[in-house]
Amino acid sequence: MYEALKKQISLYGRPVVLVGMMGTGKTHFGRMISAALDLKYYDSDALVEEKAGCSISEIFERWGEERFREVEAKTVQELASGGVCVVSTGGGAVMNPETADIVFGETLSVWIHAPFDAILQRVAKNKKRPLLACENPRDVLQQLIQAREPVYRRARFNLSSEEGKAEVVMDGLFDEMRSYLTEIL
Ligand code: S3P
Repeated sequence: MYEALKKQISLYGRPVVLVGMMGTGKTHFGRMISAALDLKYYDSDALVEEKAGCSISEIFERWGEERFREVEAKTVQELASGGVCVVSTGGGAVMNPETADIVFGETLSVWIHAPFDAILQRVAKNKKRPLLACENPRDVLQQLIQAREPVYRRARFNLSSEEGKAEVVMDGLFDEMRSYLTEIL
């Protein structure tokens, strides 16, 4: 069904990279997009956990955020500079300027966003996010969004994960990708 778009992406030769805050649905959309286009899917958090042999929270605890960011940058930069696939990145990945330049300059980058309350509700449900394991997750989330949104806005495409059925939202993204790729290829 999406053969023509898949062909265009193959010609473009670079990955589809999803960026955005935690809890916006990057993993969900990443899996959907990869299934629809029959492309390999990578989740940068999962790859970092695999490399470290423990969870993100444990990495933060044992080695600190700085070490996590180093491994994250290497992981995302490798994927983003590579061939066609679908990648969902951890929410802070593109705050590394070098990573941001590769992702926004050389890939089909997609900013996945959602309303603040929807994000808060989702992240409150699990304890996987060490940055929000604090007394005032609402304030921290607000500060992170404020600092990060200008960076996420550099993405070539964007989609709101809360605006209607996921399949319809994904089709809207695919329409925009088709137009863009038709224009540049
Ligand atoms: C982080 C987001 C998380 C994970 C880590 C830090 C962030 O990924 O990389 O907890 O800085 O926003 P998700 O965006 O997949 O939750």
